[in-house]
Amino acid sequence: MLNIILFGPPGSGKGTQAKRISETQGLVHLSTGEILRSAIARQTPLGILAKKYIEKGELVPDEDVQQMLANAVDRYLKEGAKGFIFDGFPRNLSQAEFLDKMLEERGMQVDYLISLEVDHDELVRRLLARREQEGRSDDTLEVIENRLAVYNKLTLPVIEHYKAQGKFYPVNGMGTIEEVNRRICAIINQKRG
Ligand code: AP5
Repeated sequence: MLNIILFGPPGSGKGTQAKRISETQGLVHLSTGEILRSAIARQTPLGILAKKYIEKGELVPDEDVQQMLANAVDRYLKEGAKGFIFDGFPRNLSQAEFLDKMLEERGMQVDYLISLEVDHDELVRRLLARREQEGRSDDTLEVIENRLAVYNKLTLPVIEHYKAQGKFYPVNGMGTIEEVNRRICAIINQKRG
């Protein structure tokens, strides 16, 4: 089992890189944002609840996201998953504690956290460009700035939690998708030996 948290602010490239790494490393890519957007599209009770938070750039309540994540992990484990890349989770300290406990109960652990570091202006540039291309509803300037503020206030402390466990690996997230991917793969390959 190999469990990696791909961490970073909105627009840092978590989803882009997690997708690539999951393919090359044979891991399941679990994006809480994607699961929530799918629930919104299907208008499930969770989707109806989540929409109100996502539209404002606020975090969806912990209990709902945690339950959703545990269900997804169990479903993939049943299908024979060999490990996970967590993208968008954990997003605060209580989610980090939940993840550690949930994995421990299943005989697993977080192996390491890879944190993508990207300048504020580049994050905003990427997300506004995505709005042009894909029209994601939370990619407006006002909501982007709130997502970044929520990240700085609630999500950044998660780094200290995993630093204390010796599991923190920062990566320069500036440059092309290919360049960033090479930097991430170098860490994974070094850790895998
Ligand atoms: P989520 O979907 O997780 O969004 P996010 O964290 O805001 O991240 P993004 O998807 O915007 O960015 P990313 O880092 O994945 O970058 P990407 O690869 O897409 O969450 C959305 C919302 O759901 C949250 O605000 C919250 O409400 C809710 N939520 C989710 N998880 C939750 C949780 N655990 N608890 C509570 N609520 C939760 O790249 C962005 C763009 O840049 C793309 O267009 C991409 O093509 C481009 N790009 C990527 N890399 C590069 C590069 N190197 N150079 C140039 N362009 C690049």
